[in-house]
Parts: sequence; structure tokens; C-alpha cells
Amino acid sequence: MHPAQAPRRRWQLSLAISGAVAVLLTALRGVTPASGAVTDAPYSPHRVADSTAVTFTRDVAPILQKNCQLCHSPGGIGPMPLITYTHTRRYGPLIKQLVEAREMPPYQYDAHIGIQQLQHDWRLSEDDISTIVQWVEDGMPQGDPADMPPAPPLPEAGEYRLAADYGPPDLIVKAAKYTVPAIGQDRWWRPSVPSGITTDRCIKAIETKPSVAGRAVTHHANSIFVPAASEREPDATGGGGPGSVRLSEYALGKIGEVIPADACRIAPAGSNVLFDIHYFPNGKEIVDDQLEVGIWFHGPEVTPETRHRQTLGLYALQSGSGDFEIEPRGTLVTQGFHRFNTPVRIDSWQPHGHLRLVAKRLEVLYPDGRRETLSMVSNWNPGWHHSHVYEEAVAPLLPAGSVIINTAWYDNTEKNTYNPDPDQWVGIGDRTTDEMSHAWIAVTQLDDAAYQKLLTQRAKK
Ligand code: HEC
Repeated sequence: MHPAQAPRRRWQLSLAISGAVAVLLTALRGVTPASGAVTDAPYSPHRVADSTAVTFTRDVAPILQKNCQLCHSPGGIGPMPLITYTHTRRYGPLIKQLVEAREMPPYQYDAHIGIQQLQHDWRLSEDDISTIVQWVEDGMPQGDPADMPPAPPLPEAGEYRLAADYGPPDLIVKAAKYTVPAIGQDRWWRPSVPSGITTDRCIKAIETKPSVAGRAVTHHANSIFVPAASEREPDATGGGGPGSVRLSEYALGKIGEVIPADACRIAPAGSNVLFDIHYFPNGKEIVDDQLEVGIWFHGPEVTPETRHRQTLGLYALQSGSGDFEIEPRGTLVTQGFHRFNTPVRIDSWQPHGHLRLVAKRLEVLYPDGRRETLSMVSNWNPGWHHSHVYEEAVAPLLPAGSVIINTAWYDNTEKNTYNPDPDQWVGIGDRTTDEMSHAWIAVTQLDDAAYQKLLTQRAKK
């Protein structure tokens, strides 16, 4: 078994709402803290005589502003605000526990394995973690109120998150509306809507945005461009068949995708966007829910003719036949492979799995026999899906003939506290309570000349 499978989960599961799916939500939002982790003990704020002591106003508040308040502010998706001293002190011990375990901010990616330079990386630095830990261990002193930094502007609920970096999207495509019932089985909604794109463009960034009311019931929402005339339904892998290209993938908690300027993820003229949305009812009816996707384009100098093509693919890297079953109270490791016949650059990696997945790893086996771990997630959390975008200077360059290896660890025992029912057999499937094993990987297709050129450029740097 993988070491990541120690009983590390903190959320207590409760079966309060009907159905197994509710369990996922409870795991994500029920968040009953370990006892003693929240404090209401009286405390008199005081100025700390020792100027080197860690204080809230000087040392902790700036970390919270930068890394936590996006969600932990009124109207944000976090369960409580972390803005004032009083807010934060109450949660001090729990904050310490979760930042030390790297569960908060919610960005599950191992800090000491594989490539560490990622774009839009939410992880706290080691220094920030020690500052918070120290502050809690020292009894959470408030410090001098005059040290408190001014409050930064926070985005409105429902705003595009990538707008902070790129401004408002150049194009917004809205899915047709759908009413999600209060109670029922998982549902799939697959509307096709005109994109409005009139010339081929290259995409810079994409953010799929569920509505504020609908974000808790939107398990995933994939999107592809299909020729406008096509009536096609997405196929089993979410692909739209001939003439279609993938726009994006979204799963609970994901923010978006970013595409480097030396590559083109194409937005074809005269296309429709075909959505593939997976809703799961969670106790409250949502009338006319409407999900949308925001697209930012590269400037006119970045054209499909002058750039290598980048594609986002679902790499169905499960073992052998592509099928597997996890026995009740059992564990399983699966491994799958994909060989690239041309040189490629791996731009991003997004592991996917559900409630029994606990860890995932991406490796590469080079044609010369070397094997390297590119990325690893040892503390998988089904509530948060991220596209880990490698910094352009380190995005792995693979020669033709390289093989990527996807390894997934599953735990169907009661030690996995996201597990709704350890007595079930769990097979591969689409429902939230089934399992999946694939990864979404964005790949720039290179030729030998481009591959050599990129290698030389990097060697110079
Ligand atoms: C992207 C949004 C987001 C960010 C950023 C974020 N959180 Fe959270 N946080 C959540 C959500 C949502 C929950 C509820 C549990 C879950 O979904 O994982 C949560 C839960 C928590 C909890 C547990 C609350 C409870 O009552 O159990 C603590 C403590 C916490 N966050 C602290 C932090 C701290 C400290 C930071 C910054 C260092 C941070 N969070 C950053 C969204 C966020």
C-alpha cells in the first residue's frame, strides 16, 4: 500500500442527506472539525513585548489575505471568513492542522516529489506554514493593530477567477438552462450552443464557471467544439467525433486552464460548443441552472499556422482491459501507459478520480530507459480538481518513443474517510460513487526540429 494511505482524513462523514452522493458533499462541506480544533477559550489580546514574536496583524494576516480570503470571506465558498483576528483565532488550531497537512489551501500536489514550478500554484511556502504553526503554538497573539495590512479587494461571488490575471473573458459561451431536482440520481446534460467564433483563434485561458447556486451540484462539465452542423452526442470519453476538438474539462473545485503562447489550442470558426455536464442532486432544487465557459484568446500574432498544436486529452490510463473492480474493504493499484510516437511537450496534468482514489502519480519512461516522476498527488481530495500547469521553462520535453505511466492507488476501507460505504464493490463508471482512473493532459505536438530548438533554448538558460 502506498504510504499516503495512512488514516489522514479529517472530515467526519455523515449520512444526513439521502443517497451516497450526499456523502461526497458531506465530505466536502460537512467539515466537522476534530474535537479541540476550534477554540472559544477566553483570550485577552495584548501587545507582544518581544518584537520578533509572530503576531496576527503583522505576520499572519498578510498570508491569509493572499492565500485564503478568496474563499474565506463573506459570500466566498469557504465555510467561514478568515479576515479579522477574532474570526481567525477561533479556528487557530484547526488552521494549523490543515496547513501543516497541506489540506488548505486546497491544492493537492506533493511538495517534495517531481516538478515543483507550477503556474497558478496555491500552495503555501514552507515559511508561511511555519509562521502559522508558530503563531498558533505561541498562543495566537494579536500584535499591534497598527500593523494590520489594509484589506485587499476581493472578487464578487460568481466572478471569473482568472479575470484577476487576464481581465474579463473575451468570449463567454453559456450552456442551455437545466433544472436540477432536489432529489434523484446523477444526471447528464449535453446541450450544444453556437460559439459565435468567426475566425480560427488560439486560446490563452479557459474557465468553466458553474452558477453560484449550482456549483455544489456540478460534478463535472466538459466541453468540446463541434462543427456547427453536427448533431453528435459526446462519445464515451466525452469526445465529439470527427471534426471536433476539445475545449476544456471542469470538475468540482477546478479554476481553469492556461495555454502557453508558443502553442495553439484552437477555437475553430463556425463551431458549436457541446457541453457534457454531470449534475448530482443534493437536497435543494436549482431552477434553470446555467453554467458558462469564459475564454481568453491570445493576441492576433498567435495563429494556428504559426504555432504548434496543443491538445487537451483524456488519457484513459487504466490497466489492461480498461476495467477494474475494487473489492469491499479492499485496496487496489492500477497502472496504465501511453506511448508518444512524436516528440511532445507536456504542459499540464490533471489527475481524475472519485471517492476511493487516494493517490496518483505521473511518470515518464524515456526511450533510453530512464524513468522519472513528473508529478504526484499523495493526498487526493475528491472535492478539488486542478489542472497543474507546469512553468513554461520546465514543462517536460519528451522525445519520440517516450511512454507516460499513470499509477493510481485506491482505498475502499474505512480508513479512507471519503469512502461512503466500504462494503460495496466499486467498479469503473460514471457515477460519483463509481471510480475513474484517467488523467487530463495538455500536450503540445512537436516535430524533431521544434523539439531540438526547445532543448537548445533551455540549455542556454
Ligand atoms: C479555493 C478556496 C479556498 C481557499 C483558497 C482556502 N480554503 Fe479553506 N476551505 C475551503 C472550503 C470550500 C472548505 C470546506 C471544506 C472543503 O471543501 O475542503 C474549507 C475548509 C477550511 C477549514 C476547515 C473549516 C471547518 O470548520 O472544518 C479551515 C480551517 C480552512 N479551510 C482554512 C484555510 C486557510 C488557513 C486557508 C489559506 C491558507 C484556506 N483555508 C484557503 C475553501 C478554501
